[in-house]
Amino acid sequence: MVDLVEPTLQSPEAVIQLLSARGGDSYFGEPVTVLEHCLQAAHFATADARSPELIVAALLHDVGHLLHDSGEDVADHGIDTRHEELAVYLLGQHLPPSVIEPIRLHVAAKRYLCAADPAYLAQLSPSSLLSLSLQGGPMAPAEAATFLAGPFALDAVILRRYDDDAKIEGLNVPGPEAYLDHLKALWL
Ligand SMILES: [Fe+2]
Repeated sequence: MVDLVEPTLQSPEAVIQLLSARGGDSYFGEPVTVLEHCLQAAHFATADARSPELIVAALLHDVGHLLHDSGEDVADHGIDTRHEELAVYLLGQHLPPSVIEPIRLHVAAKRYLCAADPAYLAQLSPSSLLSLSLQGGPMAPAEAATFLAGPFALDAVILRRYDDDAKIEGLNVPGPEAYLDHLKALWL
């Protein structure tokens, strides 16, 4: 486990503030920052008229990467930060399962897609391939079937597609505040 830099996230405003304040690091060898990556994923979900829950899940799916200080080259050192579990740990009591579960499952969804779709595996970026190996590699057939039968698996796969697409350098999209109303409406 890595050291956490934020012990709690007590309000929707605090979540938006965290994204804004700590999202400036580059996103693991991709040509965008973590914040740009999250905003693009949320924008793609919005453009597809997805539910507020899935839009917020897209916005926050990588918030776990903002909660540790292990550096953006952490995967190069053979460390999986389990960022999806960090997000669940800190936000699980504040957001419903329809938001939290796709976040929790978005890494599993990548491992599922790598098993189910060879074309998906073939187009992964080098940094995504490196993290895949740390995350357990493509699912075995029985594991893939179990994953797909679980609740929110389809939402997690949809989120994963936005995650993979959200690496476009210089794309102009709305900022974090655009999602504050959704976040407030879902906050528990
Ligand atoms: Fe991501």
